[in-house]
Amino acid sequence: MGHINLQNEMMEQLKTKELMEQAKTYAYDYIENLPYMDVSPSCEALENLLKFEEKMPEESASPSEILFMLHKYGSKATVAKSGAKYFGFVNGGVIPVALATKWLTDIWDQNSGLYIMSPIASKLEEVCEKWLVDLFGLQKGTAAGFVSGSSVATICAVTAARNKLLFNQGYDVHSKGLFGAPKIRVVVGEDAHSSVWKALSMLGIGRDMVEVVPTDDQGRMIIGKLPPLDSKTLVIAQAGNVTGGAFDSIEEICTLANQASAWVHVDGAFGLWAAVSGKRKYLTKGLEKADSWSVDAHKTLNAPFDCGVVLCKDRDSLVSAMQASGSYLQYSDHRDGMLYVPELSKRARSVELWAVIKYLGKVGIEKLVDDLCDNAEYFAEKLTEQGFHVENNVVFNQIVVKCENSEITSATLKNIQASRKCWCSGALWQNEPAIRISICSWQTTQKDIDDCVNIFVACRRLATPVIM
Ligand SMILES: Cc1ncc(COP(=O)(O)O)c(C=O)c1O
Repeated sequence: MGHINLQNEMMEQLKTKELMEQAKTYAYDYIENLPYMDVSPSCEALENLLKFEEKMPEESASPSEILFMLHKYGSKATVAKSGAKYFGFVNGGVIPVALATKWLTDIWDQNSGLYIMSPIASKLEEVCEKWLVDLFGLQKGTAAGFVSGSSVATICAVTAARNKLLFNQGYDVHSKGLFGAPKIRVVVGEDAHSSVWKALSMLGIGRDMVEVVPTDDQGRMIIGKLPPLDSKTLVIAQAGNVTGGAFDSIEEICTLANQASAWVHVDGAFGLWAAVSGKRKYLTKGLEKADSWSVDAHKTLNAPFDCGVVLCKDRDSLVSAMQASGSYLQYSDHRDGMLYVPELSKRARSVELWAVIKYLGKVGIEKLVDDLCDNAEYFAEKLTEQGFHVENNVVFNQIVVKCENSEITSATLKNIQASRKCWCSGALWQNEPAIRISICSWQTTQKDIDDCVNIFVACRRLATPVIM
């Protein structure tokens, strides 16, 4: 009986659209407030999160009250990461047409696993694959899988590489499994991103098996220290160090690897986009000589979250690594998205990606990337003028900053975060605490940066007496 009531109720909700209108009003409110919001939530907003700690509800609740609760308490406990003064991690801003597209596709609620479940998602995966291959200058026919982010993209690529390297040794991991498999070698830089280590460990490649290449003061693999490569080796290079933004010398690594028939994967979560900038594509020189790549659209490209891509030169290797079968699965002559990724059910993230790329075009993407990087240079320059020490070569969108000593640096960062007016995260740089700034939103202007430099100065002033 209760079920019938709910069904009628939900039919009515769709008919009147009142809930959608309510959500729209709250969403517009959020957008209008965004420029005036503090970057991180107040203590009161965080305390109010206790309101969500309710017992598992027995009965159905009012949908309008559900939305109201989210608006009243939820929105205030968000981080204004799509605003102009958020520089944490490498969290991108969001381009309005992508946001609007996401809304629309949320209503579509498509499962992009199979063509038969969503012809439009399948078509736009196909189109985005071609566009990305063109943008990054990769070999025609390179395959793309659309995943939640670079962490998963790396898992997909390393699986493809591992299986192929084993297959080349006459070993079929699909039938025989990993236990008792012949050895493969994995070479990574000392500064590889944690997601690379996660992918390796998930795929049965333990830390002790990995050959770690020492890095220079920017976190780049020292080429002279690469071990001799062979056809059993996977090399994982980095386009964009998560802290300082440095790029491994992909050209040199790929040349050595190609001579030895080794597989090169490039973790380019945010840095791969350098390839679209005339001014900065020197950073990714040789990219097309690699075998696989991971990249996010939700970082540098400012697509909404949950928009990562794995690219693989050898389509069969990726498809065979992600294989799945079942009598109920109805494959088609078109693109079936699940063949390139671990998931079967997945949202139609390619639609937002398509919208961003179509909106910006090559010229707009280049401008977006260059603006982020130029702003990083400007920020670094202004901080230097104020006596901060910029520790990295600012080649992309990342800045690493220190104060007079570690205590002041840590206290300054704490004050910046507590100010809630702008937000940066910290990291260790040369084993000492540093403030890391990631310019990742299209919204940030030089005026915002000037304001933030003033905040930095005030926060350092506040920090200085602490150690006196
Ligand atoms: C270099 C690098 N690789 C991988 C990742 C992980 O990406 P995601 O958070 O999309 O899984 C990041 C995240 O910042 C990164 O900077």
